[in-house]
Amino acid sequence: MSDASIYVIHENDAWVEPLRAAFAERGLPFEEWHLDAGCLNLENQPPEGVFYNRMSASSHTRGHYHAPEYAACVLAWLERHDRRVINSSRALQLEVSKVAQYMTLEAHGIRTPHTAATVGEDEILDAALAFDGPFITKHNRAGKGLGVRLFEDREGLRAYLRGPDFEPSRDGVTLIQEYIEAPEPFITRVEFVGGRYLYAVRVDTSEGFELCPADACRASPPTSSADQGSPGLFTIVHDVDGSLIDGYERVLAANDIEIAGVEFILDRQGRAHTYDINTNTNYNADAEDAAGISGRGMGAIAEFLGEELLRIHGSGLPHAAVAE
Ligand SMILES: Nc1ncnc2c1ncn2[C@@H]1O[C@H](COP(=O)(O)OP(=O)(O)O)[C@@H](O)[C@H]1O
Ligand SMILES: [Mg+2]
Repeated sequence: MSDASIYVIHENDAWVEPLRAAFAERGLPFEEWHLDAGCLNLENQPPEGVFYNRMSASSHTRGHYHAPEYAACVLAWLERHDRRVINSSRALQLEVSKVAQYMTLEAHGIRTPHTAATVGEDEILDAALAFDGPFITKHNRAGKGLGVRLFEDREGLRAYLRGPDFEPSRDGVTLIQEYIEAPEPFITRVEFVGGRYLYAVRVDTSEGFELCPADACRASPPTSSADQGSPGLFTIVHDVDGSLIDGYERVLAANDIEIAGVEFILDRQGRAHTYDINTNTNYNADAEDAAGISGRGMGAIAEFLGEELLRIHGSGLPHAAVAE
């Protein structure tokens, strides 16, 4: 057996906690590369193993300002040495640019909301002229609902831009986007592991836009209703249109993305508008518990990475299996 390992590339310890537990439960060898800082000697050889990139576009909100740029360097180095990278440098390009996400979705025939990418205050305001009804702003490089605000008209946008609350996107690109009015206040996030559909989670949006599913993002302890298993903010569902799932799988395959959560919203006509691809995906423990599939998401990731390690390096068999 080689001493190859699974390497997790990330910048947020809290989000890796459930994955650590899933590896430990299965006896899988893993190491973490926390990339908020580092020194990469380009002449070095990478270690043997399977490398899982879960860098997040919102790293700057945790003080890890340049983690995605450093991750791009590390991924380029791993790929030059033909290492097995799950969610490659192309996945990272999509993670940090909603425009890149929308262009590949559209190229595969998947509807995205009408969107303008803007730089410059006058240009942001001018972009709003193209929208008849309500529109939203959001950051091109986002995550956690950064910069998502709803406006009825251009005057509201002008006041926001000139007021103290306006915060530019980390990359300076502000998106002005058609607001999709959902008859029922929910969005759906479709989870994929190993490039294949895992499950979908319906997220109640009646309370607002910041929709991080991770346990670590939870502002308060679970409510009693969630404890009792009645529908909380996040509910696992199995009613997503199969052709939409097939389309997402094609998009992911075309962009070298194997683990992701893709979000869509249904409009009044029941049409899906897809607006976010998260290559750094987190799972909601309450929703998994309520559906009787506790630990399924991170478990599926751990098993997928373990299988890849075994396939490529002939190592990583769970200790229990080796002992038997
Ligand atoms: N075009 C839209 N119309 C209506 N609601 C939207 C739209 N885009 C985003 N939202 C809401 O804002 C949330 C955050 O937007 P999203 O694009 O997913 O940004 P992030 O990458 O920061 O998660 C969504 O989950 C959804 O509830
Ligand atoms: Mg989102």
